[in-house]
Amino acid sequence: MNSQPEPRILFGREEIEATLKRLAAEIRQDYLGKSPVLVGILKGSFMFMADLVRLLDLPLEVEFVRLSSYGGGTESSGKVRELQGLASPIKGRDVLVVEDIVDTGLTTRFLLDYLRRKKPASVKLCALTNKPSRRQTPVAIDYLGFTVPDKFIVGYGIDWNEKFRNLPDICVLE
Ligand code: IMP
Ligand code: MG
Repeated sequence: MNSQPEPRILFGREEIEATLKRLAAEIRQDYLGKSPVLVGILKGSFMFMADLVRLLDLPLEVEFVRLSSYGGGTESSGKVRELQGLASPIKGRDVLVVEDIVDTGLTTRFLLDYLRRKKPASVKLCALTNKPSRRQTPVAIDYLGFTVPDKFIVGYGIDWNEKFRNLPDICVLE
């Protein structure tokens, strides 16, 4: 029996494009005259980051960190492993974290706390999607793309067991 889950489109590419334009306008306005460091959380944020920075007319820098909380399957393990990959010093910098999805909030909480200890000038959070129904720790999202239902989300960089990241739309698995 083949029970491969099927992705169903939740937000299509036109809607994603319009939302990214809105986010970029908000971010650009707030960071005018600054040169922020955008820190993307791998792997899920790679597509979002690539599209977002193209819309940002600012002298920004891009960093990626690896920080996964999922072992596989569709339930968060709740454990946040150690961070890898932050190459440049962020002391005194304006840092904008770029995340694919805030679910329990544990991953983002861990990263925001980690970054704040490095004494940046500011730290803000930009999330493509928010799944507020499963939050375990409060997380303030400064720039939010979409609120999603308590379903498993894939596509536009977001995976299920490493699959479906290449889908151009934000989908739910069913
Ligand atoms: P959190 O620590 O529970 O907030 O989960 C954060 C990470 O879990 C996200 O960056 C995603 O990589 C992953 N994640 C959470 N929900 C989903 C989902 O619905 N689909 C795929 N990945 C998810
Ligand atoms: Mg992630």
